Amino acid sequence: MAFHPKSISASWRSQSPATRLLRAWLGITWIYGGWDKASDPGFLNPGGATYIGAQIEAFSKNSPIGSFLIQSYDYAVLLGWLTIFGEFAVGVATLMFVVPRISALAGFSISIGLWLTATFNVRPYFYGSDTAYAVMWLAYFLILQNGLSGRRGLGAMRFDINRRGVMRIGAVAGISGAFMGLGHLFPRNVLPIAKAANKRIVALSKVPVGGTFNFTSASGAPALLFRTKTGVFAYNLTCTHQGCTVEYAPSLKQLRCACHGAAFDPMKSAKVVAGPAPRPLEKIKVKIIGKNIVEI
Ligand code: FES
Repeated sequence: MAFHPKSISASWRSQSPATRLLRAWLGITWIYGGWDKASDPGFLNPGGATYIGAQIEAFSKNSPIGSFLIQSYDYAVLLGWLTIFGEFAVGVATLMFVVPRISALAGFSISIGLWLTATFNVRPYFYGSDTAYAVMWLAYFLILQNGLSGRRGLGAMRFDINRRGVMRIGAVAGISGAFMGLGHLFPRNVLPIAKAANKRIVALSKVPVGGTFNFTSASGAPALLFRTKTGVFAYNLTCTHQGCTVEYAPSLKQLRCACHGAAFDPMKSAKVVAGPAPRPLEKIKVKIIGKNIVEI
């Protein structure tokens, strides 16, 4: 007989203290993970510092599933919504004991997905948390599988969906949707990045006339500095189409975006010369002070 506790409190009472601890930690952490993204105004916003598309692009460079990731770039916002909903749903379902084994497997799958994308290159591996969460979800799944069903092995997993089950799944979806709406309504305060006055970029002698220099702007964006006979100027390299990072092609004298082919002319205020970008790249204020080039 599969075990189906009649209420949420009965499900908690039926578990050992160690299992309760594991379940509570996983459920709360997954809800927190969803909230962290839902209340982040930049997560679904191309151009935001934490935009999901920019994260996908960055992860794709070193991930073993990089080619798959870059193909999903065009659906970044949809992927972001699904990630937020998935994290809320897994967390809420775990705490409410709704389809608990499926939720545990979903939590395991999300952890593996995050490991393959976000923390695959973290060395040593124990500095990245995703492998630890994957193991915790798997352990919780095995506890449910072996401890509650009274039978062993994957064959014991059942999908009993009766009227009460459908209502509980609906409740999980509703609560998850409500959390998403609340996160959108109450975006967390993104602290303005304190901009240091006249942040030094590089020594003037390191950038010859006609040369360029890559740096990170005070706002954290990738940026490129140009030095010409008449002075210096710089641009934020975040593409104004959907947030990929553009690169300078010296032979063409253009800043080009590999995602959808936008091109910008750095000698004409980075105006768009090709592709779908709606506006020029953002200009970054720089100037020469003494022997240094600084961001002002
Ligand atoms: S992100 Fe689409 S052209 Fe750059």
